[in-house]
Amino acid sequence: MVTILAIESSCDDTSAAVMRDGVLLSNVTASQLVHEAYGGVVPELASRAHQKNIVPVVDQALKKAGVSREELSAVAFTRGPGLMGSLLVGVSFAKGFAASLGVPMIEVNHLQGHIMAHFIREEGEEHREPSFPFLCLLVSGGNSQIVLVRSYKDMEIVGQTIDDAAGEAIDKCSKVMGLGYPGGPIIDRLARQGNPEAYEFSKPQIAGYDYSFSGLKTSFLYHLREWVQTDPDFVEHHKEDLAASLEKTIVDILMKKLRQAAKDLGIKQVAVAGGVSANTGLRNAFLDHARRYGWEVFIPKFGYTTDNAAMIAMVGTYKFRDKDFCPMEAPAYARTSI
Ligand code: KG4
Repeated sequence: MVTILAIESSCDDTSAAVMRDGVLLSNVTASQLVHEAYGGVVPELASRAHQKNIVPVVDQALKKAGVSREELSAVAFTRGPGLMGSLLVGVSFAKGFAASLGVPMIEVNHLQGHIMAHFIREEGEEHREPSFPFLCLLVSGGNSQIVLVRSYKDMEIVGQTIDDAAGEAIDKCSKVMGLGYPGGPIIDRLARQGNPEAYEFSKPQIAGYDYSFSGLKTSFLYHLREWVQTDPDFVEHHKEDLAASLEKTIVDILMKKLRQAAKDLGIKQVAVAGGVSANTGLRNAFLDHARRYGWEVFIPKFGYTTDNAAMIAMVGTYKFRDKDFCPMEAPAYARTSI
């Protein structure tokens, strides 16, 4: 029996999960609302909130799972990438916890975790997971990449953004419209009531499978400035159409490169992961591609789109089987690739 306690603290969610033999027993997350007032994550406030949350979150995860500390086989933790101050809280806690129990530690790459979220099994649920190799569109506030997944530990980035991430572009456009933070869920809600063809924004011309979103962000800002000059309440009058058109432009950009990569690589199993995979327009585009191109698509449950420790426990379980443990001195890393 392999029982993993996993800890995730890379950004502004403190999360702990318990997984036994690949089945998720608990996944507890404390989100930090303190950042809303600042329109973005404030690193120092995030670290402080992790300090406050980590002990109760781990305690709750163990209680909910009905697992005692002595039953744990290993402690898995997010080693990076992320905010250094946030990571240090989780990494240090994991080290202390593992050392006190005398169990091995397993380091997990946060991005690998997002992709492996597709393999999380819950008790009694009918589960469908991709088979290797598959393509995964990983889209979050910090990443937009197309990943060729050959196994849980063999992942190749075939395309990625050369500037902003898709989520970052959505958040910035939402901020420019004065709609609040994080912009993703707000834009998603408004877009459902708007006309996606109402406005046209610039789309990048980038070679290969790479993305770019900074031009779109600028184009959105310049258009908005012009329109607001003629109607100071332009955003209020047209926010649904603006949100729908922005969402459509971003989804079109994401899907075009993904379609090309899938075609060139001859892959029909296509997954999406990361915070932006919660977006309704993007989810619908995946379902539409399944019908039109015969793709078998994998869309995560909402709870596994944003940061969570369940996905870290999933990678932890695979690594435990391979006896892939890490030394006590392993430092956190702020930047790293898959
Ligand atoms: O993976 P994630 O939770 O963490 C970071 O990368 O920080 O992704 C967060 C991103 C934010 O940009 C947020 O606005 C976006 O995911 N997001 C969404 C939706 N929900 C969250 N974007 C579009 N539609 C959504 N429903």
